[in-house]
Amino acid sequence: MTTSRQKAQKLLQKMTLDEKIGQMVQFGRIKDKERDFIAQGKIGSFLNSRNVGLVNEVQHIAMEKSRLKIPLLIGSDIIHGYVSTFPIPLAEACSWNLKLIEESAKHAMTEAASEGVRWNFAPMVDIARDPRWGRIAEGAGEDPYYGGLVARARVRGFQSIGKDGYPISAACTKHYVAYGAAIGGRDYNSIDVSEHELRTTYLPPFKATVEEGVMTFMSSFNDVLSVPASGNPFTIRKILKEEYKFKGFVVSDWESIEELIAHNVADSRKSAALTGLNGGVDMDMHSGVYHDHLKELVKKQPHLESLIDDAALRILTVKYELGLFENPYTDPKLKDKVILNKKTVEMTLKMARESIVLLKNNNVLPLDKKSKLALIGPFADDPHTPIGCWGAACNHENTITVKKAFENANLDFEYQAGCHAVDPKKKWIQEAVSMAKDKDQIILTLGENNDLSGENNSRAFLDLPGAQLELLRALKVLNKPIITLLFSGRPMTIVETVDSSDALLAVWHLGLSSGTAITETLLGLNNPSGKLVTTFPKTLGQVPLYYNHKNTGRPSFRRYVDFDVSPLFPFGYGLSYSKFVYSNLEIKHSVIGKKEPLELSVEVLNDSDVEGKEVVQVYYKDLCAQVTRPVKELCAFEKVSLKAHEKKKISFTIEQTQFGYYTAAMKFIVEEGGFALWVGPNSQEGIASEFNIQ
Ligand code: BGC
Repeated sequence: MTTSRQKAQKLLQKMTLDEKIGQMVQFGRIKDKERDFIAQGKIGSFLNSRNVGLVNEVQHIAMEKSRLKIPLLIGSDIIHGYVSTFPIPLAEACSWNLKLIEESAKHAMTEAASEGVRWNFAPMVDIARDPRWGRIAEGAGEDPYYGGLVARARVRGFQSIGKDGYPISAACTKHYVAYGAAIGGRDYNSIDVSEHELRTTYLPPFKATVEEGVMTFMSSFNDVLSVPASGNPFTIRKILKEEYKFKGFVVSDWESIEELIAHNVADSRKSAALTGLNGGVDMDMHSGVYHDHLKELVKKQPHLESLIDDAALRILTVKYELGLFENPYTDPKLKDKVILNKKTVEMTLKMARESIVLLKNNNVLPLDKKSKLALIGPFADDPHTPIGCWGAACNHENTITVKKAFENANLDFEYQAGCHAVDPKKKWIQEAVSMAKDKDQIILTLGENNDLSGENNSRAFLDLPGAQLELLRALKVLNKPIITLLFSGRPMTIVETVDSSDALLAVWHLGLSSGTAITETLLGLNNPSGKLVTTFPKTLGQVPLYYNHKNTGRPSFRRYVDFDVSPLFPFGYGLSYSKFVYSNLEIKHSVIGKKEPLELSVEVLNDSDVEGKEVVQVYYKDLCAQVTRPVKELCAFEKVSLKAHEKKKISFTIEQTQFGYYTAAMKFIVEEGGFALWVGPNSQEGIASEFNIQ
């Protein structure tokens, strides 16, 4: 059978230089000029079109008017849902349910594909340790190993095989690389990360997606080792294409090749195009520098044509793999069957339920359904915030807010906003306090709205904006149980809120079914099972704060004269209405030979009357190595369901490569020696043991 690559090779031989360059060009707008370019074979891709009629129209131009009839590839950002909005990626990651994350990705992409979008600029796999960075909302948190597993699940979902036997879309791993290390958490900022740190912390999720068969990559806006990522032969050509053997293609981020001029590594659009090409970026998103300059560059430097051949070959291969040559058009009626269909909407609810993290509960939850409730706060009736940072094609009118869900559940409640989400002047605190006076409990929605997270939305403060704290303080005087729902796209500094609340749930930006999932959780119809994938600091000055830090030479010295360094809530943390007790950690062979896996088991008891799910987490520490290693690293986990009073023995088999690391000479090794091991409910608690590799 002829492979997609062989088909692409054959086609490439028939192509003119203009047509090959055309494949490397992606534009956003579709006007008359672009229609002409399609007919001339000078555009290979468009982005952000959300209109199946238009997609089919331009595909007809490509398939009927262009010389070689090469279909267009239409890309878009389906980050957490298309019309049916799913929880933001950070929230989904808190579910630790990889199967569900994969399903969510598949449903989201199926909706988008029904409008002709066959390429998704996701998953975003950037490790983020600084919650000031707004795009922390789009990733899977701070752990490279877990981040890699979530990234793989998303790739499987986005690239799952559709009814026609082809992947529903090509996924795009982004932003390559270390974009999340932006200094000061300021979006688009420079990073300062060594090659060792790159390989240890930032690259693993990218590598994981190559192993999973991701079809495309996106190069990032930032510089890496002082060379901009969208013109960086070391990261793209050497690491990604040679070392990882990535066979797909690399698209730049939005105009990031042209931005090489602002980075001061190119002095003109022409030299930016040259640097992008030499760097290994195969497709130029939107800036037009490849379109305008590659041909004249080849005229002067003919050897460049081989780089263009390679780029076009990679792009054409993906188009064949997607079956676009056979099926370039999308049935315009499909979207009516697919978008907002019952199963997908149910999926948004399932995903939202498992994304919620219970952070505190002084026995006030679950609620008695007969309670008289005061529903207060700027997010209780806000249909926009749960939509999160990438709304795609969503319509906020579809959002089930908490207020709406309370009505649907026939709860006995009254509602007052109390204050505006951001503006300190807009407040109605007294009205809220008077309303709450005769109620049994206060359900208080606090946090940040969706405009405060996502791209270009970094924050210099991580506390509650506007008059929210004032509202909390006024309600506290009533001396009634306060149950706080924290809406956010990131960890926030909320010590006073935690202290003043009797219960607190991180409800992130949970998408379409947000209110239903939250209400079910408050009532105990959903037992919370999410665990944090990113550390909550106590105060801004502690940032960046993450669990897998190094020990240093002076671990017991105080790090600040005026504050401690412990987190408010650590990585892996999350409570349940059940109570889980860990015992009998057994390591099968405490000494294992080279290449042998580590086998262990632990017993987990649900010591309560309610069924629940627990994320059993395994961490290790290399006790002596050639380079400094983290104090703890996640190496395995399992999410288990336990009936009331049920006890289960959970077994793990961990491959030895999981305990390996990069030496100072960048060699990945697994070394002999002693290792500490913990199994428990989060990164700070657990039963300890140890093992040796000999
Ligand atoms: C973002 C990318 C996104 C692209 C296309 C850029 O500004 O950084 O994440 O995929 O726009 O919408």
